[in-house]
Amino acid sequence: MSIDYKAEIERLKKDLDVTLVAHYYQRDEVFEMADITGDSLELARRCKADDNPWVVFCGVGFMGQSVKVIAPEKRVLMPKIACCAMARMIDGSYFDDSVNYMVEHGIAKEDILPITYINSDATVKAKVGEMGGYVCTSSNAFKIIEKGLETGKKILFVPDRCLGQNFAIKMGLKSCVIGEGECDPKEADVICFNGFCSVHQLFTVDDIEFYRNKYPGIKIAVHPECDPKVVQAADFAGSTSQLIKYVNELDPEQKVAIGTEYNLVNRMRQKNTYVLSSTKPECPTMNETTLEDLYHTLKSIEDDNPINEVHVDERTVKYANLALERMLAIK
Ligand code: 13P
Ligand code: SF4
Repeated sequence: MSIDYKAEIERLKKDLDVTLVAHYYQRDEVFEMADITGDSLELARRCKADDNPWVVFCGVGFMGQSVKVIAPEKRVLMPKIACCAMARMIDGSYFDDSVNYMVEHGIAKEDILPITYINSDATVKAKVGEMGGYVCTSSNAFKIIEKGLETGKKILFVPDRCLGQNFAIKMGLKSCVIGEGECDPKEADVICFNGFCSVHQLFTVDDIEFYRNKYPGIKIAVHPECDPKVVQAADFAGSTSQLIKYVNELDPEQKVAIGTEYNLVNRMRQKNTYVLSSTKPECPTMNETTLEDLYHTLKSIEDDNPINEVHVDERTVKYANLALERMLAIK
């Protein structure tokens, strides 16, 4: 007999002390089952405030880890422990190499203020926390970099070179990318690690020109993980929630092409809304989670045999939490 996953998930949600969380990039059928949805920052804040002892997180690995770091008493399960490709580009030793690069180029370690994008492993966040640094997301990077600059230190921004450069440009700061051309930390305010999101690299200035030629007057809205040239050529750049707000506030007759993950754009997609790409910009890891996975994860709680639980060691929790809490304290 086949299982009605939706009905079973609804039943399990009623029977268990569990909160179901989903990022905007999840498949529609998974997204629709969630109690809490949002961008990375909203999910972190709302999970912290939530009372249920169990969290089932539909997203990528660093998101579930972040909940465990912010609220270690919670039991956090992920239907798929899928890892964000960008988060995988940096680990603790690459982080140390970046710090050493700056030291070798004349910046004392105590004069470096590291900021890590939330799309990173807890071990990287812990190293950042230990050095007095911050986590940021795409919706609060401006405020966090501003806060970092108040210390008078050089900013080491990891792992997303695009986010680091885009906010540096917006703030009128000088930036460079380690390993890409000349990168003299003495000459720059923001020194970026060379990581990127393969999904957001799909959007190009040619795509923007194509839409501007095809539909004169069209607006272009992109995520700040896009290349700086793309962000410069767009009308608006913002986090997933900020993009939704921007599009919702446009006149319904206004055409808009959006440069971010397909599931989100497709959900927003009414008349006059376009995907800013000739290919389908799906995040493969965000797409891994299915209704069936979600059902099995919830059922494992009911059966008292939880699967795919997120564990973070005590020391990592301690220091990663410092970096996350410093971020959450900034309104
Ligand atoms: P948001 O912070 O906008 O949710 O973005 C997360 C992400 O992974 C974008 O690719
Ligand atoms: Fe990571 Fe990019 Fe997927 Fe976002 S879209 S989760 S940055 S791989």
